[in-house]
Amino acid sequence: MSEQNELSASPAAPAPASQAAWTARYRNALMNTFGPPKRVFVRGEGVHLWDADGNRYTDFLAGIAVNALGHAHPAVLAAITGQLSTLGHVSNFFATPAQIELAERLSGFVTANEPGTPARVFFANSGTEANEAAFKLTRLTGRTRIVAMEGSFHGRTMGALAITHNRAYREPFEPLPGDVSFVPYGDAEALARAVDDTVAAVVIEPIQGENGVVDPGDEFIRAARRITHAHGALLWLDEVQTGMGRCGEWLASSGSGVTADVVTFAKGLGNGFPIGACVATGAAADLLHPGNHGTTFGGNPVAAVAGLAVIGVIERDRLLEASRRLGDRLADRMMAAGHPLVAGVRGRGLLRGIVLTADVAGATVERLLEAGWVANAPRPAVIRVAPPLIVTEADIDGFVQAVLDALPSGDADVG
Ligand SMILES: Cc1ncc(COP(=O)(O)O)c(C=O)c1O
Repeated sequence: MSEQNELSASPAAPAPASQAAWTARYRNALMNTFGPPKRVFVRGEGVHLWDADGNRYTDFLAGIAVNALGHAHPAVLAAITGQLSTLGHVSNFFATPAQIELAERLSGFVTANEPGTPARVFFANSGTEANEAAFKLTRLTGRTRIVAMEGSFHGRTMGALAITHNRAYREPFEPLPGDVSFVPYGDAEALARAVDDTVAAVVIEPIQGENGVVDPGDEFIRAARRITHAHGALLWLDEVQTGMGRCGEWLASSGSGVTADVVTFAKGLGNGFPIGACVATGAAADLLHPGNHGTTFGGNPVAAVAGLAVIGVIERDRLLEASRRLGDRLADRMMAAGHPLVAGVRGRGLLRGIVLTADVAGATVERLLEAGWVANAPRPAVIRVAPPLIVTEADIDGFVQAVLDALPSGDADVG
């Protein structure tokens, strides 16, 4: 009997497990870091996801601003499988063309406001690791103080936690790497007061995604650049969530005209293949030396070709422009509906926060999920919207209607 026949002659395959069955196994198999999963997904294609019970969803979260090209994009798939079948991994004793090409492209994005500025990249596997590299790099300036922002989120390693503002995340793990102070986000005067010649770096998210898509505007970034220049401190922009076209430009900070000393990327860079990058410019690009830092997987050629494929498709399909146009459409349609619970829409491009007048974002997101739409609520009164950049106008309009339908209708629901 051929292998194929043996397989087909085997006893009837068990019915695919249900979400309930998978969720029960999840509880036993995985640490309880994230609470119970809201759904168990088994397939994705374009902007759609399917759960283990066969229900279809439209994904307006994209794995938290990750799947810029949606699910199972053919260009990413071809790049990853092609590279994996050619050369999957070599370690950082060696180099690969893909890693070098991706570093050059990211450096180009970071120095676009001052072309010709030297820039170099350290590749990591996640946002927190990209920030960890940046944190270590700042220590090599000979200074140790870091000024971070109230409301910030930079990841979960000890270094990234030290510059993350949320006390609940920090306190169980203290003492954290020290010498970090926090200033109100968007307050240039407070920042000017906090920075002196002992500060190694100021770290800022151009838009605070985890804090509910809070956008301080370009002028704050420009002020931070002036202040850091005046005191010889590094300006470090965390573009992990906002970069790679999410906000309508390669960097959310692009429009500020500023060139930062350090920029960190992850999330959208690999479309779901894990990769992070710490890009440094000018003198900051020369701070890390052999022995200072390292990684086994970072810069792996498979991750690097995923990044190159993402960049190629964003350019080919003009997705930066699409991100701006569709994000504005979403905000305009949402506001035009005049729903009494919708106070405004924050953010840029396709990173948006629908701000509500009551703490009903969590319940609304649950109802959206029931109706087949994936979004999330980073704050009690904010729905975060971060769909793949390949969404259509019809998807946007459908989502706006779904939110309007999912919002509580009467005062009784809002309490
Ligand atoms: C601005 C920012 N920085 C860093 C991180 C951490 O990235 P990761 O979860 O890939 O470690 C995140 C994740 O949400 C983020 O939004």
